[in-house]
Amino acid sequence: MNHFITIADHSKETIQHILDVGLKLRAERERGKRNQPVLDGQTLAMIFEKPSLRTRVSFEQAMFELGGQSIVLDQSQVGLGKRESVADVTRVLCGMVQGIAARVFEHEKLEQMARHGDKPVINMLSDYTHPCQALADVMTMIDAFAPDTHDLTGRTLAFVGDGNNVVRSLAAICGRLGMNFVVASPGGYELEQAYVDRIMADSPNMNFDMTRDAKQAVRDADAIYTDTFVSMGQEAEKQTRLRAFEDYRLTESLLAEAPDHAIVLHCLPAYRGVEITDEVIDGPRSRVFPQAHNRLHAQKGLLAVLMGGQ
Ligand code: CP
Ligand code: NVA
Repeated sequence: MNHFITIADHSKETIQHILDVGLKLRAERERGKRNQPVLDGQTLAMIFEKPSLRTRVSFEQAMFELGGQSIVLDQSQVGLGKRESVADVTRVLCGMVQGIAARVFEHEKLEQMARHGDKPVINMLSDYTHPCQALADVMTMIDAFAPDTHDLTGRTLAFVGDGNNVVRSLAAICGRLGMNFVVASPGGYELEQAYVDRIMADSPNMNFDMTRDAKQAVRDADAIYTDTFVSMGQEAEKQTRLRAFEDYRLTESLLAEAPDHAIVLHCLPAYRGVEITDEVIDGPRSRVFPQAHNRLHAQKGLLAVLMGGQ
């Protein structure tokens, strides 16, 4: 494995291995043991075109805990594709550091980096996908439903909201792990058919449903997931979007339609009172904060496999 740009680029075995390594490293940490410094002497350069809390801290902390270090580069300094071409930035960094991670507006920039980079390139979120988030999300489902086997086969993840970057990666990881995926979005905000076709071609046995009915979507869910209705870069559409998504809010009354055991997930940042109510995000079925913490453990699994030969 060289790069981590989308989930679909990787086999079930690789995804499962990353999760297993992340869970093993987490267990060591919980026992008060330091992890082996498998990234000793290695540096990850991180480029951010958009803001971040979880992604930045989890990658920086993961590099530190595995014996390496990170350098955070702000887009205002780097000017990826503006001050300097994406290819040239990549070539320069690859001569100095052992890995590059980038959060970008256009997904194409990551693909260019992967083409020109001879060191691992990691997608820390693009307008198209958010694969590192999906690793932490299924890790949180493993904690809830399969702590011993790590096997989520046949489990159902329901997403209610915008057919966005987070959803694309969730659909792909559910296909990879033999899970069912259902997504409820309002008209005009669904996942595009071309992407659904690609996932289905990749994971032909997958149960993948799309609906406009949020209640129907959550009926058989083991986990119910939502994300902001206004992703970074869509601020100008805010008012239109908020109107379109009025019936897709994760409230106590929507949760009542789901099985009693269903847990609640959100990648954060959450717009409380908009896509999710305080009662739900702070309620007993929410796993939102352990999910955020799992970003660290998923990232450690990913980095240990991608750069540490695990
Ligand atoms: N969930 C997530 O990616 O959070 P940040 O935008 O804070 O990194
Ligand atoms: N869909 C959101 C995810 C934030 C982590 C966005 O792209 O802004």
